[in-house]
Amino acid sequence: KNIVILISGGGSNMAAIVRTAQQQDWARTLGARVAAVVSNKADAKGLAFAREQGIATEVLDHRAFDSREAFDAALAEVIDRHDPAVVVLAGFMRILTPGFVARYAGRLVNIHPSLLPAFTGLHTHQRAIDAGCKFAGCTVHLVTAELDVGPILEQAVVPVLAGDTADTLAARVLTQEHVIYSRAVAGLLQKQ
Ligand code: GRF
Repeated sequence: KNIVILISGGGSNMAAIVRTAQQQDWARTLGARVAAVVSNKADAKGLAFAREQGIATEVLDHRAFDSREAFDAALAEVIDRHDPAVVVLAGFMRILTPGFVARYAGRLVNIHPSLLPAFTGLHTHQRAIDAGCKFAGCTVHLVTAELDVGPILEQAVVPVLAGDTADTLAARVLTQEHVIYSRAVAGLLQKQ
């Protein structure tokens, strides 16, 4: 069972999944492996980590396409070359077309840095602080056509502490993202 992970930046969630797959020996326990890491940005830091791990990497620059549909069609072609059982969005900062989402229905997952359904969209940590939330967190969910909506697979909660900035809260949430994303992907693979 091949896992294809899409990133746009640092790729710490991707790296956490790769490391967990190694530590838990997903090849043996789940018959699964991370087959490819795909980025829409050539300078995404996570690409170097993936290459060091011997994982195939692909770059597809969205700016080379004149519509979302054209980009998503090319993206699907790249992904499908790796015959994915599960497609993982890990800080992939592109909105996907309904056609793309439908193609991978039930096996396309995303992580969002809030306790959904609260705070869909961007700037989740600042918005949680501004709202006076005492708790924040992260959510892994199946991707459906609507942004940041879709069946919830895993969530984790962290406290919002006095004096938190968006950055300090984001760092606390990110450590939990790494835990729940690997767990959710393993759960999904088990059901495949
Ligand atoms: C994470 O906070 C994720 O929830 C959000 O973007 C960030 C990506 O971080 N969508 P990384 O690239 O996995 O380090």
